Parts: sequence; structure tokens; C-alpha cells
Amino acid sequence: MSNHFICANLKRRRKISKSKLPIESYFLRKMKEDDLPSVMEIENLSYPNPWHLSSFKGEIENRPISNPYVIVFKPLEKVIGYVIYWHIRNEAQISNIAINPDYRGMGVGERVLRWVMQDIQRKGVEFVFLEVRPSNLCARHLYDKLGFTMLGLRKGYYRNPSEDAIIMGLSLSQ
Ligand SMILES: CC(C)(COP(=O)(O)OP(=O)(O)OC[C@H]1O[C@@H](n2cnc3c(N)ncnc32)[C@H](O)[C@@H]1OP(=O)(O)O)[C@@H](O)C(=O)NCCC(=O)NCCS
Repeated sequence: MSNHFICANLKRRRKISKSKLPIESYFLRKMKEDDLPSVMEIENLSYPNPWHLSSFKGEIENRPISNPYVIVFKPLEKVIGYVIYWHIRNEAQISNIAINPDYRGMGVGERVLRWVMQDIQRKGVEFVFLEVRPSNLCARHLYDKLGFTMLGLRKGYYRNPSEDAIIMGLSLSQ
């Protein structure tokens, strides 16, 4: 059975590594309705149970709690990914992050999450949470690298396919 989240190059990547996308070639800006066709394309390529368009519209409308950003690749003026976090008082939750498959493994996801964490730290956030499928090994490697640790499991949280969610957290206070 195929597993949507097994990183295509998980085994090979120790031998072949893509070069990093230069930091100055992309930036984050707030997501707008015009971005949604590109966002939906990436979402559908990224998840077996993608969010609906209405969910992204809701995120755009739910400011200031929701903070939806797109990642724009400057040379092509193209949306190559997005990240959404919720900010409530001194806590934040990364609710979605996805990178266009053509731009994965080039350091974008890691760089963007580091930017987000600096941003939320400046806003007074002390603790950041997220949920991840146990089978999503790429994302789990990334979160481990950033220092997130497992806090617990939400049983049967995900559908299609059914899977628990690993709850991960990271303290940002010194
Ligand atoms: C998870 C995701 C956002 C990572 O983005 P990315 O830009 O490809 O990641 P980066 O190139 O910045 O890699 C950073 C780290 O992630 C991990 N990682 C990324 N790709 C990996 C792979 N193919 N195999 C193993 N680890 C991987 C590694 O720890 C890597 O650090 P390293 O290069 O020093 O080993 C991307 O794979 C994605 O969009 N996946 C689909 C959506 C998704 O699963 N989102 C998370 C939901 S919880």
C-alpha cells in the first residue's frame, strides 16, 4: 500500500542532496484570496485529506488569531508554499505548512518555520504546538531538527487514512 507521506527520496537523500534555495530569492507575505488557486494546488499535492477552499478563506478572514502567509519565489513571482499559524495570547499553533513538491528539500520549510518562530517570539509567544501524522516522516524530521518534542497522541485524529496525531511542542521562553 502506498503511503502518501513517505518522503520520496528519504533513503537516497543521504547520498544526493539538493542545493539550498538562496534565502534572498523568496519571502513571506500575508495570504490573499488571489493566492488561493496556487495554495489549493499545493494543498492537493501535499495531503491525502486536503483542506477545502473554504477553510483557507476562513483563515484569511480570521485575523488576528489566524496568520496565513504565502511563500513567494521572487524570480517567477510564484507562490511555492504557505504556512498558517494561530496565535492566542502566549501560545501559537502551526496549523498548516506545505511547500510545492518541486521546491522541497531545498531548505525552504525549515527557513520559513524559523522565521515564524522568530516572529511569534517577538509577539510574546512562549509555547508553540503542532500536530503531525506518525507516517509523515519528512515533517517529523523537520520538527525534530527545530527542537520540537512529542507531548502526546490524539487517538484517531486524522481521516483518510485514519491515523493518530502526534502532538508536538516547543518552548520559546529563554
Ligand atoms: C514537511 C515539508 C514542509 C518540509 O519542507 P522542505 O522545504 O522540503 O524542508 P527542508 O528542505 O527545509 O528540510 C528541512 C529538514 O526537514 C527534514 N526533511 C525534509 N525533507 C526530508 C526528506 N525527504 N527526508 C527526510 N527528512 C527530510 C530534514 O530534517 C531536513 O533537514 P536536513 O536537510 O538538514 O536533513 C514538506 O515536505 C511538505 O510540504 N510536505 C507536505 C506537507 C506536510 O506534510 N506538511 C507538514 C504537515 S504536519
